[in-house]
Amino acid sequence: MQKVNGGKRNGKTAHHWVDSKAGTVERAAFISDEVYRLEIERIFDRAWIYLAHDSEIPNTGDYVTRMLGSAPVIVIRGSDGGIHAHLNSCRHRGTKLCRTDSGNARHFVCPYHGWSYERDGTLITTTFDRHFPKDADFSKLALIPVTQLETFKGLIFGTWNADAEPLVDYLGEFAWYLEAFFGRTPGGMEVLAPPHRWRVKANWKVGALNFVGDSQHVVTTHAGPLALDPVREARKGFATVAADSFQVATRNGHGCTVSYLPPGMEEDAYQTHPADLMPLYETMLKPEQLALLKNLRVIVGTVFPNLSLIESQVSPGEKAVTIRLWIPTSGSEMEILSWILAEREASAAYKARVLKKGFHNFGAAGVFEQDDLELWVSATEAGHGRVALQVPYNFQTALPFLDKPEPNNTWPGRIYRPSDTEVAQFEFMRHWDGLLTSGA
Ligand code: FES
Ligand SMILES: [Fe+2]
Repeated sequence: MQKVNGGKRNGKTAHHWVDSKAGTVERAAFISDEVYRLEIERIFDRAWIYLAHDSEIPNTGDYVTRMLGSAPVIVIRGSDGGIHAHLNSCRHRGTKLCRTDSGNARHFVCPYHGWSYERDGTLITTTFDRHFPKDADFSKLALIPVTQLETFKGLIFGTWNADAEPLVDYLGEFAWYLEAFFGRTPGGMEVLAPPHRWRVKANWKVGALNFVGDSQHVVTTHAGPLALDPVREARKGFATVAADSFQVATRNGHGCTVSYLPPGMEEDAYQTHPADLMPLYETMLKPEQLALLKNLRVIVGTVFPNLSLIESQVSPGEKAVTIRLWIPTSGSEMEILSWILAEREASAAYKARVLKKGFHNFGAAGVFEQDDLELWVSATEAGHGRVALQVPYNFQTALPFLDKPEPNNTWPGRIYRPSDTEVAQFEFMRHWDGLLTSGA
């Protein structure tokens, strides 16, 4: 294995997967089941993890089932109108209560022996209450609630960590960017359909890094769809980005890449947001956030660890926000969930077009998706063997910029230019390495 470059902790040398001097990451970080187990323990069972969008469960009793770290959970709109989340496991012998991805429930009845629970998790009856000891306390047999549950602009996050800082603090400076995409009209965003969901034999971080900002892959990986788009092809320079494009890294490992249209293309029909929604943006966003959106070609970003977003054009004057969850299932496999969103105030016709075209690009069979996934899977296949595992992944284009954000920048977070280095990705990996090492 690669030489460990860690310092001492409690007399033990802490293992690091990231080498900040060399600009490399051990390949095992993207393959190993041992690393996966550490990630679940030290990141996914501790951090704020995205669970669902508020608009997926609009009515009383609406629910979705998701993973929160190591545990399956039910996220449900309670009878009180509030959002509840519980461990999806019966208090009797652990059976999964809810087997479907989504639905509407008055209550949950365990399919094994019939214990039943209210939407808020309270135990209604075990069916055999009469056989319990006289002093049995049924109030102590409610479903286990998610320890902390909070919402930011419709995005519902949970954590099993009672000591986790408030969600808004965890998001920190990155909240400013999320506001610009999820809070830009009074009604906010809504998901337009249930998520596409599929499994890929690639590590979850490959997706998270790609969306933090892998500008270097676009022209080669996506040469096909870029060349085949007759309108974009006709507009010379569409594949290049303006020099004021930038990358962002913030505390807690969040990051994004903001790419602007190059000079001369500002009038391109592809750049505009829906004209009828712009006045609403102006009521909700700060001038600096409106400036962020002006001439925006595409933004990609990741909320650490595994929620990503992309906003891109789907047709002239129409942009789709896509969100992604990269859910680890082993060291070398993940499940992906992908949603398309639009502003609640948009017309039904607009939403229908955005949904269709959004999934055309970024659904399970999306044209961009197909390009990426074949390459991610091939990296897993080529990285498994004893020999390949000796050879680290290379992030050296981050090194000249590391710890050197632009001074006096007005955008929140640490800002890096140019936008096509690997600095935001490497910052993500350094944060990841710090969390994995801190539990050693
Ligand atoms: S396991 Fe649920 S009722 Fe027995
Ligand atoms: Fe891609």
